[in-house]
Amino acid sequence: MLDKVKEIQSEVADFNAQSIEKLEAFRIAYLGKKGKVTLLFNEFRNVPNDQKKEFGAQLNVLKKTIQSKIIELKEQIGSKKLNSKTEIDLTVPPQPYELGSRHPISIVKNEIIEIFSNIGFSISEGPEIEDDWHNFSALNFPENHPARDMQDTFFISKDIALRTHTSSVQVREMEKRQPPIRTISPGRVFRNEAISARAHCFFHQVEGLFIDKNVSFGDLKQTLSYFTKQMFGDKTKIRLRPSYFPFTEPSAEVDVSCTICSGKGCNVCKYSGWLEIMGCGMVDPNVLDNCKIDSKIYTGFAFGMGIERIAQLKYQVNDLRLYSENDLRFLGQFKSANI
Ligand code: PHE
Repeated sequence: MLDKVKEIQSEVADFNAQSIEKLEAFRIAYLGKKGKVTLLFNEFRNVPNDQKKEFGAQLNVLKKTIQSKIIELKEQIGSKKLNSKTEIDLTVPPQPYELGSRHPISIVKNEIIEIFSNIGFSISEGPEIEDDWHNFSALNFPENHPARDMQDTFFISKDIALRTHTSSVQVREMEKRQPPIRTISPGRVFRNEAISARAHCFFHQVEGLFIDKNVSFGDLKQTLSYFTKQMFGDKTKIRLRPSYFPFTEPSAEVDVSCTICSGKGCNVCKYSGWLEIMGCGMVDPNVLDNCKIDSKIYTGFAFGMGIERIAQLKYQVNDLRLYSENDLRFLGQFKSANI
């Protein structure tokens, strides 16, 4: 019997499995129901009593040796498999990176910034929560102006509101330094409007301000003409229509020749050939004086546009709500824009 145990011991020592299947066959051959070791256990009762102790001990050692050999070999085979997996397979096609895209508002904002930076405008920013002075009073809004009404403005307290335009930033710039001032202020603004395809309670603006000696309405017109050509193409024309803002005198609305039909007339421009894109005018002397800039020495122009409006014309987006709904089907369409 003991010879049998020794024989199995040397068989086990020599065994070396390359695969899980072979290892399993080995386990069955020795420890399975009819395995060699199991059979030896069955013969235990035939062993003479005086040899039982030694035989039993040897048998148990044998069983343990086989069990730990199986575990050891299993680990070896497993790690070999892992290693072969980490080898680089140069024939596998690469996984394309899923790139995100910039938001259309950011794309257009960056484009506007670049166009004005090229002609020397700096960028200024200010708070979204503003006081009455910077949003209204310094800008010459009369006490009873409708924009000061709860209907149009989100008031936080009597004197504090969410800014309704970024002209407030320009007041801060004028208070900070003397001319020449040449700056644009991009940012988010808020108005108390019911949300629809054509109106939203917040949107984005870029407002511009240029103050120096001898700044004229002609300078304003040239600047806007340059901007619209850069933005919508060389053939774009502008026209100015008289308008009113408390902070500019004279004031005008700026139209561009329709970006779709180039002025021939289509349903985007409602067959007028023109699209309204911004307000502008010469800074009212009262505003300059309010900001401690001498209106007898300096003149300036200002303009303000909605980024959503420019993006709408550039990309044919006809529902304002799309800009803030985070629908990937909409946002994914701007992947090719690279600014
Ligand atoms: N602040 C005006 C608005 O929000 C736009 C504007 C700016 C008009 C500067 C004229 C001059 O509508």
